[in-house]
Amino acid sequence: MARKTIEDLFIHELSDMYSAEKQITKALPRMARAATNPILVEAFKAHLEETQGQIERIDQLVEASGLKLKRMKCVAMEGLVEESKELIEEIEKGEVLDAGLIGAAQKVEHYEIASYGTLISMAKFMGLKDAARLLGDTLKEEKATDEKLSAIAEQGGNQAATLKS
Ligand SMILES: [Fe+2]
Ligand SMILES: [Fe+2]
Repeated sequence: MARKTIEDLFIHELSDMYSAEKQITKALPRMARAATNPILVEAFKAHLEETQGQIERIDQLVEASGLKLKRMKCVAMEGLVEESKELIEEIEKGEVLDAGLIGAAQKVEHYEIASYGTLISMAKFMGLKDAARLLGDTLKEEKATDEKLSAIAEQGGNQAATLKS
């Protein structure tokens, strides 16, 4: 077992999120194509743009702090994305698939919210104020997306799906 510093852990977690965000930029267009509700389609497209900005924020943070990211794959995100693919393969387009996609996207958002929360705590502990601020901007976007998805679900998509099954 190797002795690691909080900085090692921060780099590990940040590299993991970098991979997660990259995977999300590939998953969101597929989810937008699979969705029926135009509001949901728009929400996926809007979050794709935000996600590209979030990747740039990590690039910016790495450059400013002189840290070096590790090449790694976020296997948790791989699993979440895989589950969203399964839904798309198994359910025909419509309200039920939309409800499934909202759920899949919210699992992604919650994973991101937890991860960025941890990264912000570590950045603050290490005295990386600018990094904490950049990560905080991203965390706000993830929370807003989660809330937007909840609102779309409550607007009737999920309800309609339950009624018709
Ligand atoms: Fe994100
Ligand atoms: Fe997100």
